[in-house]
Amino acid sequence: STTFVVAVDGPAGSGKSSVSKAAAAALGYAYLDSGACYRALAWSLLERGVDLEDPSAAIEAQKTFDLDIGTEPDDYFVRVGAIDVTEAIREPRVTNAVRHISKVPEVRAGLTALFRRIIRATPNPGIVVEGRDITTVVAADAPVRILLTASEEARMARRSKELTDQSAAVVGEQLRSRDQADSRVVDFMNAADGVLTLDSTELDFDQTVHAVVEIVHTQT
Ligand code: C5P
Repeated sequence: STTFVVAVDGPAGSGKSSVSKAAAAALGYAYLDSGACYRALAWSLLERGVDLEDPSAAIEAQKTFDLDIGTEPDDYFVRVGAIDVTEAIREPRVTNAVRHISKVPEVRAGLTALFRRIIRATPNPGIVVEGRDITTVVAADAPVRILLTASEEARMARRSKELTDQSAAVVGEQLRSRDQADSRVVDFMNAADGVLTLDSTELDFDQTVHAVVEIVHTQT
């Protein structure tokens, strides 16, 4: 297919989801939130009450995983079967559960295949795909690959603004522990060869979106 792929990776709290979605909208591209797919699988395992520590349960569940994700930036939703889980997958119990399944190689292979099918099937001229291993695995051959970073301080501040009911210390600890767990599986803290680092520490949201759009424009 000729779909132009913009791959964006980054740590938790880097703002990559909202930035990627807004950049996709500005470019007239589709948008794929790969983390939401990992979250939706974790959600369905919690729903079934299976043992998250048992990788075979995740591998089994994935075979019948009926996921539907919106890839239009202005029509974003996540469904598992008939259930809309767009909000539910953001709950802390899901955030904490994902790490158990995202470390299972068979699960990663299955979701990677799904992401590639979605990319191939996208009718838009392009698609912005974001996650942890998009620049290195899912779309390692993408013409634009960006690592979106921000200082730990900035990421903590942004995340605690979203989660107003939790203390900054708790938010910081959760962020660190999730990044640590995720880093053991894929390296998204350091840009791979040919991947451009965009540090948003000193940029506001609009400036960061603009920077992504500019990077894409110089490549098209
Ligand atoms: O991006 P988000 O924070 O929603 O991702 C949730 C979790 O899904 C991550 O903490 C990580 O464990 C997993 N993930 C992954 N690979 C991706 C995207 C997400 O392992 N490409």
